[in-house]
Amino acid sequence: MEPTETTSVKVGELEFPPRKVWMKTYGCQMNYHDSERIMSHLSGLNFTKTDEQSDADLVIFNTCAVRDLANQKFYSHLGEMKKLKANADVNPETGLKKNVIVAAGGCIAQTEGKELIGKYKQLDFAFGTDVVDNIGEMVYRAYAGEKKFAVTSWDRSDNYSIETKITHGSPMAFVNIIKGCDKFCSYCIVPFTRGREKSRRLEEVVKDVRRLVEFSGVQEVMLLGQNVNSYGKDNGESLGQLIMELEEIQGLERLRYTTSHPYDVTDDLVEAHRNSKKLANHLHLPVQSGSNTVLQRMLREYTAEHYLELIAKMRAANPQMTISSDIIAGFPNETEEEHEATLRLLDLAQFDFIYSYAFSARKGTKAARMNDVLSDDIRGRRLREIQDRQLKIQAAIRQGMVGRTYRVLVEEKGLSKGVTKWTGRTSCYRLVHFEPETPEQDYQWHWVDVEITSATALSTQGKVLRDLGKKP
Ligand code: SAM
Ligand code: SF4
Ligand code: F3S
Repeated sequence: MEPTETTSVKVGELEFPPRKVWMKTYGCQMNYHDSERIMSHLSGLNFTKTDEQSDADLVIFNTCAVRDLANQKFYSHLGEMKKLKANADVNPETGLKKNVIVAAGGCIAQTEGKELIGKYKQLDFAFGTDVVDNIGEMVYRAYAGEKKFAVTSWDRSDNYSIETKITHGSPMAFVNIIKGCDKFCSYCIVPFTRGREKSRRLEEVVKDVRRLVEFSGVQEVMLLGQNVNSYGKDNGESLGQLIMELEEIQGLERLRYTTSHPYDVTDDLVEAHRNSKKLANHLHLPVQSGSNTVLQRMLREYTAEHYLELIAKMRAANPQMTISSDIIAGFPNETEEEHEATLRLLDLAQFDFIYSYAFSARKGTKAARMNDVLSDDIRGRRLREIQDRQLKIQAAIRQGMVGRTYRVLVEEKGLSKGVTKWTGRTSCYRLVHFEPETPEQDYQWHWVDVEITSATALSTQGKVLRDLGKKP
């Protein structure tokens, strides 16, 4: 039977009345994409989403382990669950308290699931990154009365085959094309939390995207993986090839991919940026450091010179392309000279924006075992220097947008200092805010041509020239 708001659904031996799930997602797009899959599976067990934690029957944390801060946030939220369980409503008919079930999934749960279950009384079950599609079974087990279990096994099959599940109704969809990471950069926990690389077959991805475009109104697709440049290696296929095949799908307007590793960028990918009409004018290519000796200690397998050549090639292939990056400040034993090299690289690379982080030691990684002499203060100061330098570069680049017209796909409406503004993203991945022509005008998921009227390092404002509606 189709689940509804009022009727119960029978699954196996159990009745599932309408219930509410509250979910908190930490970390990267991969995790957000997994959360969407989880929601889609749970709707089959009669769950609907709630934004009010106190209404929830089921609470799920989809965790991230990439830096200590992400871990700490999760532990503090998990701590609060004790109170939530203690204060759960009493059912007036039975006199019993609501049985709130609390679960943790994602990257922390993958490596520490069993310990978490033992340590936190309020946690009912934990599940890893490779069993997201079994969430229905796990929730069933919890409602069948099974207590305190962890499922953190890896999928050992050769094939990686899934169908993208979307629940949001927006024209933008994430599509996973490769899972895992084999790179083992010395600072990074991801290969331990996401396992080995495995690609979906090209034919399957093309079919999947065609279905999303034809039946779910999707117009923009973000191809996802920790290292999408490794896509297809195991099957004699490549990301460049995949992009050129997706290019043929009528109704698909924009294509993006993330994240890339510079070592694996191939010539056919550069060519795809030259030839594709749908590939967005943006590339996120994490460099991590501008110092060759630090890059070596990070086990990144490229030099700053190679990186700069690569982005020059990309910009020659598509002169409209903007490039963004990730930087780690204060890698173990980084010297002032090595830090200066990163500041110089920022000047040379002219990134459109960066995500920058202070190094955070992750247990089990090579970098965490290095005898490090840097203090938190030094790391914090270097991070600020990197961010200040980038903001100056960014402000100058953004000034160059003023007076030019960009086509944006509008994502949402918000209030800024009491004024209603809509926000959309350009092909080059810049957010643009603009006021509606009339207060009641609805631009949700419209394609709009916007002329940029002002820009700062962090925000770009424009005025509407043309509203093209839901199809460009
Ligand atoms: N796969 C991508 C790549 O190769 O760059 C992204 C991986 S990670 C999810 C996102 C970013 O987090 C990395 O690019 C890196 O800058 C940062 N990061 C990873 N481990 C870190 C650590 N131990 N400390 C600080 N930042 C870290
Ligand atoms: Fe982590 Fe490196 Fe893999 Fe990116 S490529 S996920 S930084 S190990
Ligand atoms: Fe975090 Fe896992 Fe992503 S560690 S960044 S959620 S792959």
